[in-house]
Amino acid sequence: MRRARKREHIENYLMTSFKGDNLLGDVYLEHNALPNLSFDDIDTRTLFLGKTIDYPILINAMTGGADFSQEINRDLATLAKEFNIPMAVGSQTIALEEEDSRESFKIVKEIIGDDGIVISNLNGQASVDDARNAIELIDSDALQIHLNPAQELAMEEGDRNFVGVSDNIKSILDNIDKPIIIKEVGFGISKDVAKTLYDIGVRNIDVAGYGGTNFMEIENLRNPAIDLTELYSWGIPTAVALINLRQLPNDLNIISSGGIRSGMDVAKSIVLGANISGISGELLSYLVHGGYTNAKAYLEDIIYKMRMIMLLLGKRDIEELKKTNYKVTGKLKDLI
Ligand code: FNR
Repeated sequence: MRRARKREHIENYLMTSFKGDNLLGDVYLEHNALPNLSFDDIDTRTLFLGKTIDYPILINAMTGGADFSQEINRDLATLAKEFNIPMAVGSQTIALEEEDSRESFKIVKEIIGDDGIVISNLNGQASVDDARNAIELIDSDALQIHLNPAQELAMEEGDRNFVGVSDNIKSILDNIDKPIIIKEVGFGISKDVAKTLYDIGVRNIDVAGYGGTNFMEIENLRNPAIDLTELYSWGIPTAVALINLRQLPNDLNIISSGGIRSGMDVAKSIVLGANISGISGELLSYLVHGGYTNAKAYLEDIIYKMRMIMLLLGKRDIEELKKTNYKVTGKLKDLI
């Protein structure tokens, strides 16, 4: 069941057609005609979870366990290694239950090695032992815990009871000595939820907002018995979540994801207060449709555009980019 679902998530993601808007287009950045920088001066390196990475880009959680997951994870991990950027694996619940699925996760660490960053992934109901085992299996640097009530409700076989998840997260925080990242899966994290998480000790949140991968549609394609189209536009757009979460204390490490597709999206995310941007669906599309070379060219394009934008803002490095002034327009202005 779990294995089939993993395959269907990838296949159905590639079939989705609904286009959401993360509202990063409503962020206005002012052009600097006198940048006083050379293109070669632009430094995109940054510190993430205690290690230096070359670009503020995370290959975000997608897969592991299905028959073709190993190939996908091999390619994604090779990209992560080549660009020196972190990678999160997909949910490891299947690896805890089915021994023969483990290699598709382990391969990620084997390729990335100890110098890079590998992140584990489990759901909000995972036990402390599950967390320990998931981290140990791939010797990961951190653990992502995904919150996905909307996705679960859209699944016929999904959870219906979400009681006790924050208590559970607290016990994982109290008992696991690796960084814990709380993320959504594309419906976003509100300021209130982030505050609740912050108050129990969470210091890393990936907003995983609305505007990219749409699990309401992905699950609806798996379960056509119910028509969920009225909920395809459910969720907090990534730009809204970023601006709202940045009002929380500065020691909250914010990751921007949800519809991040371009260098402009990455640059704007950082201006709005993220330390790094996660990409899932768009990278998967390039990989599945065009292979490794195409996925690599896509990441190179993101990086090149990011460097262009940094120069045109007169920002030499990521710390300077974070201090860029911005204006909001349109729907984003209405929602914040
Ligand atoms: C995902 N995502 C995901 N998230 C997670 O925490 N655990 C998981 O196992 C998965 N599985 C998964 C499969 C597929 C095929 C996709 C496309 C996505 C969600 C992902 O990490 C991310 O939060 C959302 O996809 C939003 O980002 P994008 O895709 O809009 O860049």
